[in-house]
Amino acid sequence: MPSFPTDFLWGTASSAFQIEGDRAGRGASIWDTFCRIPGAVRNGDTGDVACDHVNRYRDDIGLMKRLGVGAYRFSTAWPRIQPDGKGRPVEDGLAFYDRVTDAVLEAGIEPWVCLHHWDLPQALEDKGGWRNRDTAHRFADFAEIVGRRLGDRVPVFSPINEPNVIVYVGYGFGGHAPGKRSRADAIAAIHHVNLAYGQAMTVWRDVLPTAARLGPIISMAPVVPAREDEEHAQAAEIVDWLWRRVMTDPVMTGAYPALYADEIARHIEPGDLEQIGQKIDFFGLNHYSKIYAKPDPDHIFGIGEADPPSGAPVTAMGWEIDPDTIPRQLADMTERYGDLPPIYITENGAAFDDKPVPDGRVEDTDRIAFFEGYLSAVASAIEAGYDIRGYFVWSLLDNFEWGLGYSKRFGIVRVDYDTQARTPKASFDRLAAIIAENRV
Ligand code: GCO
Repeated sequence: MPSFPTDFLWGTASSAFQIEGDRAGRGASIWDTFCRIPGAVRNGDTGDVACDHVNRYRDDIGLMKRLGVGAYRFSTAWPRIQPDGKGRPVEDGLAFYDRVTDAVLEAGIEPWVCLHHWDLPQALEDKGGWRNRDTAHRFADFAEIVGRRLGDRVPVFSPINEPNVIVYVGYGFGGHAPGKRSRADAIAAIHHVNLAYGQAMTVWRDVLPTAARLGPIISMAPVVPAREDEEHAQAAEIVDWLWRRVMTDPVMTGAYPALYADEIARHIEPGDLEQIGQKIDFFGLNHYSKIYAKPDPDHIFGIGEADPPSGAPVTAMGWEIDPDTIPRQLADMTERYGDLPPIYITENGAAFDDKPVPDGRVEDTDRIAFFEGYLSAVASAIEAGYDIRGYFVWSLLDNFEWGLGYSKRFGIVRVDYDTQARTPKASFDRLAAIIAENRV
């Protein structure tokens, strides 16, 4: 029975657009726009109501308390605070995050703020979004506003959730907002998202208490060629570049990987790389599933993703279930970057086709098996010497799963979207026991 260190931090993670709702209380984001493009999001789903968390956050924090977690990672909706992405902050927006922060603290839980989880104000997109260097400066202002407001109570801040997914999916495959497929745009966005990260870190070191802990949150998973031949090996190298390295290399080493570095160099100004490569207090590692790379001549970088081998166990997302990818990912990072800073698994979890019984209860044995497998892998990785300090479940609630709308359920609590009733699934109880015993 693998167990965890006594001070191991258990948490859950969420993001603003995926749960909050209350469209009337905030400006438009690129996701509001994207949701209204016919066919862009499954079933035409939107974030207008989502899990109505704006009105139900107290109940949701109550569930976290019942689960027994020590930390809650949430994001702040930029358009709720600066509807146009610039200028004076809206007091109501900031006050909402005050209330969430205070309620989380009252529940004895540590609030972790991830400033931005993909809901870029549409007004900034209209001026070029992440293709435009100025967006990074606007982001630094936003970081300062939130830092000054919450920094007295929030001990941990991270600038951007999965900057790599913003570019990889939002600019490479076009499956996420802003739905672009442009090589030039993707290259510009890579550097400006990184710059925004670096500028937020700089501002926070200035305005936050010195004890604040700051670090990136990046989705990391091994990339493997779907077939053993030269073209697939080359595709895997490019996927690895776009998926893992263009964000992680500059953060960890202050330099871009060699591949296509000359294209990115055009956007770099003196001092940028120093800011991006500055000291971090932890590395937030989101982890789901390894990527099988294949060539695709229609893609802006000539790459695509293949399905896992037939017969491999998968989640409802079609993502392969293979807990060994956790130690493998850590080994890859160690090989590339040397000694790693403290690691938090800032997201891990799974969607399954839940079948609720009439009272809303879900006996999600598949999700329980998923968590047991991945948590055992985390415990073994710690035993093998990796400095993993905590694990955040994605996610407490079923929620808006981006391009797949509400069709995919990642929650350990079922949400009935007609009534907004919350019903803990069997996986909730199993995780509560794992957390209470600190062993899996
Ligand atoms: C991400 C995001 C989450 C997703 C989750 C499942 O990791 O992509 O942070 O918003 O919902 O990962 O896809």
